[in-house]
Amino acid sequence: MINNRKIFHCLTAQQFNRPFLEEICDLADVIRKVANSKAGMEFLSSLLNHKRAMLYFVQPSTRTFLSFYSACQILGIKCAEVRDPRTSSEVKGESEEDTVRTFSSYFDLIIMRHFKANFAEKIAHMLDNTNRTVPVINAGSGKDQHPTQALLDVYTLRRSFQHRGGIDGKKIAFVGDLLRGRTNRSLALLLTLFDGVKQYFVAPPQFQIGEDILRYLEKVGVEYEVTYDLKQVLSQVDAIYMTRIQDEWDAEDGTTSEIDIEKYSIKKEDMSLLKPDAVLMHPLPRRQEISPEIDNDPRAVYWRQVRNGMWIRVALIAMIFKLDLYIHDYHIRSY
Ligand code: CP
Repeated sequence: MINNRKIFHCLTAQQFNRPFLEEICDLADVIRKVANSKAGMEFLSSLLNHKRAMLYFVQPSTRTFLSFYSACQILGIKCAEVRDPRTSSEVKGESEEDTVRTFSSYFDLIIMRHFKANFAEKIAHMLDNTNRTVPVINAGSGKDQHPTQALLDVYTLRRSFQHRGGIDGKKIAFVGDLLRGRTNRSLALLLTLFDGVKQYFVAPPQFQIGEDILRYLEKVGVEYEVTYDLKQVLSQVDAIYMTRIQDEWDAEDGTTSEIDIEKYSIKKEDMSLLKPDAVLMHPLPRRQEISPEIDNDPRAVYWRQVRNGMWIRVALIAMIFKLDLYIHDYHIRSY
């Protein structure tokens, strides 16, 4: 567990506490305001122009890669990337651990997406036992965790409910492939830090939320409901978090072809079932689980999630490099 302003690695959703969440969201709001002017952008891009980051993304990504890349640019950090391990000495038999340790010799920050659960944690632990450790950010690890997605999701929920008493007390439904979805797993854990949030899990039986998440919710006293009836849940909740069926894992554990995806999809006509002030979220990429006809409905906030992702990642990197007070101070002096 971290204290406010004390973050080095970002590895799992469980490492955060409520004061940290409030602080990072406040900082993201301030950074957005600062970034509105040329002088503000010049200030931000001067903060870390002496630093370099490695984006090690050996699993496909559009949003997380580009938002981290943009976040680094906003703060002046120079980026390098490895996206295809066939271009690294891993093809000569070098271990992934040695590959990443090499990055720490050249870079000041490692942002990594990997197909193995716990890989970022393992690497952070390994680097901490060397004489050259650098911050490691988990940008998605296997079927397990996506902590920075959970941060942007909480940020989106906080902004969506800012005039409705915040996230506390809200009812939030997760829909889709919840067993293999690292985004919903991390967000379910993060939402336990809010008071009185009830979670609903709507999924095909073979891809229902993991027992480990349910046991954790029970341990910390969070109310939840496991269900298979999306239509019945839609009218009850304040937020719906749709997810894609993750068939890229089918070779390991899949029966995707047996699923009736229609039952876990939202069409334009279903929107009449939602509360007028509900929000419809999706980490993206999507397939047919949300019809594009819904995109212009004011309750659909998934494109806002995409934008929020960049700002919360700027805030995260700023906090890792202990610049948050400096940015707040600039904002107070300038506005
Ligand atoms: N939400 C998300 O992680 O998207 P990408 O896979 O495109 O990064």
